[in-house]
Amino acid sequence: MILLVTSLLLSFTSLWLGLPLLTCVTSHAAPLSQRLTGSRPNIVLIMADDMGWGDLGANWPNTRDTPFLDYLASISIRLPDYHSGASVCSVSRAALLTGRLTPRTGVWANFASTALGGLPVNETIISECLKSVGYATAIHGKWHLGYTPPFHPSYRGFDEYIGVPYSIDMGCTDNPGANYPPVNVCPKDPSLYFEQKHEHPDDLRKVIEADLTVGIPLYQCLTPRCLNDNCNKEIIEQPVNLSTLTQSYIDNDRRFIQRSVESKQPFFLYLPLSHMHVPHDYARQFKDTSVLPSVYGDTLRELDYHVNQTYQLLKDLGILNQTLLIFTSDNGPWSSKCDLAGNQGPFTGVWQASPLPFGGGGGGTAKFTTWEAGHRVPFIAHWPNMIKPNTVSNVIGSHLDIMPTIANLANFTLPSNRSFDGIDLSAVLFDGSDQGHEYLFHPDMLGILSAVRYNQYKAYYVTYPAIDGACGGKEGLIIPHKPPLIFDLSRDLAESTPIEVSQSVHDAIDQALQAKLKDIALTPRTKVDYRIGGLDARACCDAGHIVCRCID
Ligand SMILES: *[C@@H]1O[C@H](CO)[C@@H](O)[C@H](O)[C@H]1NC(C)=O
Ligand SMILES: *[C@@H]1O[C@H](CO)[C@@H](O)[C@H](O)[C@H]1NC(C)=O
Ligand SMILES: *[C@@H]1O[C@H](CO)[C@@H](O)[C@H](O)[C@H]1NC(C)=O
Ligand SMILES: *[C@@H]1O[C@H](CO)[C@@H](O)[C@H](O)[C@H]1NC(C)=O
Ligand SMILES: *[C@@H]1O[C@H](CO)[C@@H](O)[C@H](O)[C@H]1NC(C)=O
Ligand SMILES: *[C@@H]1O[C@H](CO)[C@@H](O)[C@H](O)[C@H]1NC(C)=O
Repeated sequence: MILLVTSLLLSFTSLWLGLPLLTCVTSHAAPLSQRLTGSRPNIVLIMADDMGWGDLGANWPNTRDTPFLDYLASISIRLPDYHSGASVCSVSRAALLTGRLTPRTGVWANFASTALGGLPVNETIISECLKSVGYATAIHGKWHLGYTPPFHPSYRGFDEYIGVPYSIDMGCTDNPGANYPPVNVCPKDPSLYFEQKHEHPDDLRKVIEADLTVGIPLYQCLTPRCLNDNCNKEIIEQPVNLSTLTQSYIDNDRRFIQRSVESKQPFFLYLPLSHMHVPHDYARQFKDTSVLPSVYGDTLRELDYHVNQTYQLLKDLGILNQTLLIFTSDNGPWSSKCDLAGNQGPFTGVWQASPLPFGGGGGGTAKFTTWEAGHRVPFIAHWPNMIKPNTVSNVIGSHLDIMPTIANLANFTLPSNRSFDGIDLSAVLFDGSDQGHEYLFHPDMLGILSAVRYNQYKAYYVTYPAIDGACGGKEGLIIPHKPPLIFDLSRDLAESTPIEVSQSVHDAIDQALQAKLKDIALTPRTKVDYRIGGLDARACCDAGHIVCRCID
């Protein structure tokens, strides 16, 4: 096993020898897939927020509010055993875009709404590499990896950025949608608001730092690098209108794709959508459209519609056969949101939910956790003529694989002088290979790789519940395990009953983890600035206004 890990690392290293540092140079290696015709494919990467594995009808037929995604799965490849690089937003996005795990990128926690830093700029990301080989690049959606220069997406290889800088519950809106506890609407008259609350102006800073009153901004940056390096000038709506956000993304998707096609440029469209994160809101036409009437279902319907619109556009333009379309989610459902949270499918984390001392004592087992529902996410990849329709592959895949896979397809070489944790999935997607990950390492809420996947086994060196409990349930405990607690996912998707395994399985897991940690220690890793700022650090349309409300 160790041999395999080592030789993988060696082959990566030798691939990069002799290449300039920190650039994504054009590859001289022959492409893996014989069917690549030499032209670079368009890439559309759609990532939902907090969408559960069980929200996708194709994964879990009990839920039926993704009619288009289910159709898409039927003409695509689906990976039911596919995982995000972490179980929380910023951390997952950093892993996806870099192909590197938390201990390497340094991104182990979410960025605050007044974060001064972001994903460090020498952590090279997919958009920067695609830009360097001639792609038109756009991000429409939620970034959450820093919004001040040079961390703002328009400094990170994207020609354009339309979207929100962080989660849509990290500030106020005028139509706050559904959340627990309900989000307040932005105060219309801030000074009155503070008088009523008998707050001294000196307390304003505290209020702002608590994410309470600054309107969620919507950026529209149509050129790289913000105007005069002042990204606040490119906020077009604050607070954002959550019920028109999806349509605004769809309109911009259309504009960007059409322009790229006209200019005969391959394009990369990254769509990290705010659906299915609370607060939930959607256009009026989606009200009461879900099979089991619910706010969550209606929001899912709008998400499904967005993906359909993107697909129809590619179809109408006749470019489906030059386009790799991927759909996934950043992490599992936020279970403390009760009926406003997504579906975990069979991944219920029964051991954690069971009473002490034979279980973990309760708590949420999805987002924030290393339990399966935290990081096992929907994955669909579509590309006519390249990907066989209606295919289900049981390989273990990961967000970490997106960077190496795209590197192969777009013919660039991964940056040298660092290690990657993903593998090139081309052979799985296009050639029916069953070679996925043998091991996966899951960072916990402290960024420590305390859970390990090894074939059908899942090993926990630490178990813990979601930081904010389950939906009204008990809070469980953080429990270290030595030797690790091991479940067999081939028989126990609910992770209910730890099993005894042979010493050789224990050794394989221990040694793979030690080898990974050693490689992390010996290769470049990056430190992240998690400091937060005050009033000046806000993403703010009008600094004179406490809510930062844009004045039209
Ligand atoms: C990849 O790039 C190399 C070097 O520029 C080039 O020789 C090769 O033809 C390219 N391959 C494809 C499939 O575009
Ligand atoms: C997708 O959109 C097309 C065009 O609007 C529509 O005809 C079709 O019914 C939609 N498919 C699903 C499954 O919703
Ligand atoms: C959001 O947009 C919708 C549709 O244009 C509009 O009806 C609604 O009043 C807007 N909400 C706010 C709070 O501006
Ligand atoms: C892709 O589709 C277009 C339009 O349908 C067609 O002209 C072209 O030959 C197709 N290309 C490939 C590689 O199949
Ligand atoms: C990024 O820069 C920092 C500081 O110079 C360095 O410690 C780190 O190793 C670099 N990361 C990579 C991936 O080169
Ligand atoms: C990798 O490259 C970066 C940027 O040039 C540099 O800061 C870092 O020290 C290098 N790391 C090693 C181990 O060479």
